Amino acid sequence: MCGIVGGVAERSITNILIEGLKRLEYRGYDSAGLALVDHGQILRERRVGKVANLEQAVNESAIIGSIGIAHTRWATHGKPTENNAHPHISGRVAVVHNGIIENYQELKDDLEALGYNFTSQTDTEVVAHLVHEALKSTPDLLKAVEQVVPQLKGAYALGIIDTNHPDELIAVREGSPLVIGVGIGENFISSDQLALLPVTNRFIYLEEGDIARLTRETIDVYVNGQKVARPVKELDATISNATKGEFKHYMLKEIYEQPEAIQQTISQALNGNALRPDFLKDAEIDFSNIKQVQIIACGTSYHAGMIGKYWFEQLADLPCHVEIASEYRYRSPVIVGDTLYVCISQSGETADTLAALRDTKKRAAAKNLNITTMTICNVATSSMVRETDYHLLTLAGPEIGVASTKAFTTQLAALMLLILKIGQIKQNIDENQIAEITADMWHTPKVILDTLQNDTEILRLSELFVEKQHCLFLGRGTEFPIALEGALKLKEISYIHAEGYAAGELKHGPLALVDNDMPVVILAPNDEMLDKLKSNMEEVQARGGELFVFADEDSGIKNKDRQHVVHVPNVSSWLAPIVYSVPVQLLSYHVAVLRGTDVDQPRNLAKSVTVE
Ligand code: F6R
Repeated sequence: MCGIVGGVAERSITNILIEGLKRLEYRGYDSAGLALVDHGQILRERRVGKVANLEQAVNESAIIGSIGIAHTRWATHGKPTENNAHPHISGRVAVVHNGIIENYQELKDDLEALGYNFTSQTDTEVVAHLVHEALKSTPDLLKAVEQVVPQLKGAYALGIIDTNHPDELIAVREGSPLVIGVGIGENFISSDQLALLPVTNRFIYLEEGDIARLTRETIDVYVNGQKVARPVKELDATISNATKGEFKHYMLKEIYEQPEAIQQTISQALNGNALRPDFLKDAEIDFSNIKQVQIIACGTSYHAGMIGKYWFEQLADLPCHVEIASEYRYRSPVIVGDTLYVCISQSGETADTLAALRDTKKRAAAKNLNITTMTICNVATSSMVRETDYHLLTLAGPEIGVASTKAFTTQLAALMLLILKIGQIKQNIDENQIAEITADMWHTPKVILDTLQNDTEILRLSELFVEKQHCLFLGRGTEFPIALEGALKLKEISYIHAEGYAAGELKHGPLALVDNDMPVVILAPNDEMLDKLKSNMEEVQARGGELFVFADEDSGIKNKDRQHVVHVPNVSSWLAPIVYSVPVQLLSYHVAVLRGTDVDQPRNLAKSVTVE
């Protein structure tokens, strides 16, 4: 997804902008550019491809400037070409933009009628021309931007500079994340604080509708022309710990970080084998009133939600629905009072999940319904955390690889904590069961470490996937969502077409796909569904399918011709989905590396999907 970095300083900020863009590379992009103001002129470089191409161009042209804006673009309107790369310029004005201007065509028609020439196919260019036009009626850059913003429909964030205001940077947040980095005698903006960590750890999180004017010494934030106060927050230094270290890819590092990430996540809620009395204390009254749960999420986070549904109903005796946010937000679902709405999101900025949350809140308020909202999220400062009644953080640390790994398993740990808490409040789960499950949870980091010991074996098996075109993943119960997740991981990073199915569905269609060329991955913990799963394995083998089985050591499933077994440690059925996630992550990772794909930034995908 697109990224913005900008700044105003006394020193030249060229290198700060380039470094900031590099830190946003993980989000996925196809071109990059920057613009600086120097001696009354805009100096701009743009390149298709990696930030390294832009860096080379900037080094060759040796442009410098103490105020500037920079951008990584992920094409939405118009192909990834140099002309479409940001910043876009209109005379004295340069603009970078994340998000979408939905009414850009109308605006473009009007601007063309006024004589403006368009040099790109983007929606962004209208903003540059509109600000340029507005500056004809006011000498004040902030006022010009305030005139333009009401004309724009959509969700967006903007960074704007003007050669006539060589000491002012304007930032707009309207539906797309933007933070201000507060320096000493210099100030910055970015769509992700990670980009600014080399220059500051103090941030102002803009809210929707905020327009900010930054100079070297001042930061003023306005809403509807009125100055508003926004707090400066200091960031925990550990977040800056985002390097690959000894690992070849972020994804592998993040897979290996799971024991620690889970430990961190559960430590905030558990004291020995009991829930801490202060864990989600503020939410107790609201939780005691809820009658059902609605989970809303996208992609991998949706798979975590699916497992949450099994657990909510089995453990806490609460009806639970789970739905993909992009569907939920548009189908006018009935909002039911006394419901706990839970958004699950690594980033807390996913456009569909956020829109579903906002719409739910609005509709509940219109009908005077009492609902409770909550986020399970990995980013403490995200929009979702700020806009829900309660939140439970997954303390996974920054996840840079586009394919979610540690965020997913910590989401599962967090869901279990939430379910235990609600079950306890509603007295649907007794303290012995809580003690049993929490004891297992403490044990999970060690079990994951043991599971990671299978890495070499999984690498060996992954060689058998390299030439394949298709793959099936099968599981039952809470392993069904893990089958979906395994298929998603494999397809997104190795580009092999993969599908996950509930194993019981095999006969209802997918069995027709099974032949000698079809690898079938089976998730087989030793639970009450194991015998049924074994029958499904027979069905696959009878049609020539090759089985790759991740199984409990006690399952009795053995290696044989066209059946490869990797043993996963014995684990309670509650925690099996967390543990079985690990081998499917490793399998996808190794297949992708062997196929030579860009594992951390797979084609066409972005880390944080802040546009629809
Ligand atoms: C897949 C993946 C995506 C995200 C999805 C939601 O590996 O990472 O499917 O899970 O885009 O993102 P968040 O969790 O940030 O809302």
